[in-house]
Amino acid sequence: VEDVEAEVDKYTLSAFIISHTKDKEMTIMMNAMQLACKLIARAVRKAGVANLYGLHGSANASGDDVKKLDVLSNDIMINALRNSGMCALLVSEEEEKPIIIPEELRGKYCLAFDPLDGSSNIDCNVSTGTIFSVFERKSTGEPTVDDILRPGTDMVAAGYCMYGSATDFVVTFGNGVHRFTLDDSVGEFIHFGEMKFPAKNKTIYSCNEGNFTLWDDKIQKATEMFKAGPKPYSARYVGSMVSDVHRTILYGGVFYYPADKKSTKGKLRVLYEGLPMALLTEQAGGLANTGMFKGKLGRIMEVIPETIHDRCPIIMGCERDVEKVLAFYKEG
Ligand code: AHG
Ligand code: MN
Ligand code: MN
Ligand code: MN
Repeated sequence: VEDVEAEVDKYTLSAFIISHTKDKEMTIMMNAMQLACKLIARAVRKAGVANLYGLHGSANASGDDVKKLDVLSNDIMINALRNSGMCALLVSEEEEKPIIIPEELRGKYCLAFDPLDGSSNIDCNVSTGTIFSVFERKSTGEPTVDDILRPGTDMVAAGYCMYGSATDFVVTFGNGVHRFTLDDSVGEFIHFGEMKFPAKNKTIYSCNEGNFTLWDDKIQKATEMFKAGPKPYSARYVGSMVSDVHRTILYGGVFYYPADKKSTKGKLRVLYEGLPMALLTEQAGGLANTGMFKGKLGRIMEVIPETIHDRCPIIMGCERDVEKVLAFYKEG
């Protein structure tokens, strides 16, 4: 009996959101979000047998080759959030323009999401995820893109779902980061606990060193420092931002996708990769900085996207290691 009691007093994600936010509209919207993530998790895990691997045959606004699962995940997210009746405007990596929710289904939230992050890893069964950021609109009347071209400091919530060996749902409402794990037998995300950088951060650096020759000399020197030691860092790079950030918060270390000569703003998109991951990283006790961007070092949270698919450079992780990278810019 005690096992069942233990399970019962563990929070489900739904119970947590109700008690943590006491906001009915947020609860309804987040219920739609978690349903979408459960459906995407099922599609990702069935992909092999359901002929869902491979390309869709188009490119998206960022120029990515769109995968079949990118499209399916995108449809699932849009349908769930639109039908929740809690959203006014949606931005998706897979939609060139913002989606304005019809008046009869319109609510107060504006969301940006990456329906399937790391989708280049799908066909070889490496972990992927879904990332989202939530803003509350200030305007009334017809929603416009200005309702979401805002700094990260305007976000009211952010989170991701990681389709790894387990299906983890991680969310913050600006008051700590909480982690939930999907219990397939009951179809509920069960509260695993608060998520913070560890007291003793492991020495891990995480970047695509294939871009080394394109980086500025400061990032090159920082990377050489991590490798040189006195105690060399371990290199860990999955190539799915959700996986690299999830490991960085849980174990410590630093993840960076800097600007380079080819992509002067870096590769990762502000609204549905940079900002949500920056809020989560800061809420977990870490730092999230752009490195030298538009002439200065700054918090990713203060970046205001110029367009819905705008990009920014990313250096995020435990304070110790982000500061080690920034020191090369500060020394000049
Ligand atoms: P997405 O699959 O949503 O387009 O995102 C891919 C991103 C991110 O997940 C990851 O950190 C980065 O691309 C990896 O880029 P490289 O393959 O250039 O290292
Ligand atoms: Mn993509
Ligand atoms: Mn992505
Ligand atoms: Mn994606």
